[in-house]
Amino acid sequence: MTTADRLTMSLGEAMFTQRAIRRLKPDPIPDEVMRDIMEAAIRAPNGGNTQQWHFIVVKDADTRKKLGELYHEAWWAKRKDQGIMGPEDIPPGKNSTRSAMRLANEFGDAPVMVLICALSRGGSGGIIPSAQNLLLAARAHGIGGTIATLHAVVDERVHKLLNIPDTAEIVYCMPLGYPRGEFGPVTRKPLEEVCGLDRWDNPYK
Ligand SMILES: Cc1cc2nc3c(=O)[nH]c(=O)nc-3n(C[C@H](O)[C@H](O)[C@H](O)COP(=O)(O)O)c2cc1C
Repeated sequence: MTTADRLTMSLGEAMFTQRAIRRLKPDPIPDEVMRDIMEAAIRAPNGGNTQQWHFIVVKDADTRKKLGELYHEAWWAKRKDQGIMGPEDIPPGKNSTRSAMRLANEFGDAPVMVLICALSRGGSGGIIPSAQNLLLAARAHGIGGTIATLHAVVDERVHKLLNIPDTAEIVYCMPLGYPRGEFGPVTRKPLEEVCGLDRWDNPYK
């Protein structure tokens, strides 16, 4: 049986319920499931099929702990750039920021983290679709996660921790695991608000 045969969830269900899952169980992800997820990730469209990407699946407990600490530092560095110095500065109603803050606290407990890297700095555009392939395959296996980014303040240390060449760029750092909550539904603005027919200002209905 191939990876494609194992990803049997309907595409519609996967796409419409694959929301950011930030509360993860520590239960390990079986190796064969992780393999399917990565096989799907590398099937993504990419610039000229030159596959200017490299992925790192982080499972080692000590490495996850260190990466978790660096992610926490990076998350708060990003908030400080926005003038948010602590939890008390997060505006009321900003639930996704609070949820992301909790993820920053718990990041190191995710059973797997995947780093998506571009082979050259500035080369992220051509490899971004692999993140969505990865998340959809994970969803089909009942595994959640989210796209997350790091911050320049930890970049050199993450390169060193994971032996990433200086020439490569860390694009995303994605925690994965079985969800503590529920998947989906994904909520977005109505299509006619964000899509035009034949021109920008003719709402697509
Ligand atoms: C480029 C990009 C960067 C993101 N960075 C983070 C992040 O650092 N931390 C986080 O918790 N979520 C991150 N997200 C997830 C988004 O916050 C999430 O997709 C968005 O809030 C919509 O939520 P939903 O997918 O659950 O509907 C990122 C998403 C994208 C596309």
